[in-house]
Amino acid sequence: MKQDRRRFFRVAAVTAATFALDSLPFAARAAGDATGKMKIGIVGSGRIGGTLGGLWVKAGHQVMFSSLDLEHDKALAASLGTNARAGTPREAAAFGEVLLMAVPYGALPQLGRDLAGLIKGKVVLDACNPFPSRDGEIATWAREKGAGLASAELLPGARIVRAFNAIGYARLPQAAQRQSERIGMPMAGDDANAIAVASKLVRDIGYEPVVIGPLAMGKYLIPGTPLAGEHTPEQIRQIAATLK
Ligand SMILES: NC(=O)c1ccc[n+]([C@@H]2O[C@H](COP(=O)([O-])OP(=O)(O)OC[C@H]3O[C@@H](n4cnc5c(N)ncnc54)[C@H](OP(=O)(O)O)[C@@H]3O)[C@@H](O)[C@H]2O)c1
Repeated sequence: MKQDRRRFFRVAAVTAATFALDSLPFAARAAGDATGKMKIGIVGSGRIGGTLGGLWVKAGHQVMFSSLDLEHDKALAASLGTNARAGTPREAAAFGEVLLMAVPYGALPQLGRDLAGLIKGKVVLDACNPFPSRDGEIATWAREKGAGLASAELLPGARIVRAFNAIGYARLPQAAQRQSERIGMPMAGDDANAIAVASKLVRDIGYEPVVIGPLAMGKYLIPGTPLAGEHTPEQIRQIAATLK
């Protein structure tokens, strides 16, 4: 019980620190222009990447979509207006001051090699989940290591924040419309500035960011864990306080 309480206060402290960071000028300067609008490169423009990209375009950010199908991405970008464009994964990685990885986990090892140099030092939101049935042995390894730490190893030098992992893509557009209490977005990361940038992007589409701890806690940000699905920020803090 004591341990749970200690963990709760630790989570609360991290969350409070992040909110404070979010208001600091250096965090705003790290990505985005004076209005806070950012250039976002999306690798994987399927259900989750396509949906999030569309929401960020609506929020005024500039987005470049990429996948294995440039024609699909050009059509997607054209449907979203002048703040959206399409390119190759390398072009998206170069374009974005912030990147979203939204591919099957099995694609990460090759992408890590292909994008090396382009992702180094960048804030990378990692929505990817390891499923052995879909992704093979790399997913088994990632689950054993913990999804966040595994992604960091596969994408060396990236400042990874795990987020958007366990809320279905179809629910994402509804958050911005919610009038009552906001839905929380559990996140995990080691880099305070990267978390501040990610928190802004989470807020911009209607969620309340809740940092549950360092990247090692990313192992709880996958479907099937207690944090999966929709929870209020307070519920997320309470659940996170029971995890170790
Ligand atoms: N669906 C959800 O609600 C949801 C929620 C949270 C997290 N996630 C996680 O997010 C990731 C994406 O899921 P999804 O449902 O969006 O999948 P999806 O609809 O199948 O989209 C996957 C995207 O990744 C692209 N892709 C695959 N291999 C690639 C590579 N080597 N290089 C560049 N792009 C590549 C695909 O391009 P092509 O179409 O050209 O092959 C496609 O655009 C998964 O790890 C999933 O577990 C999904």
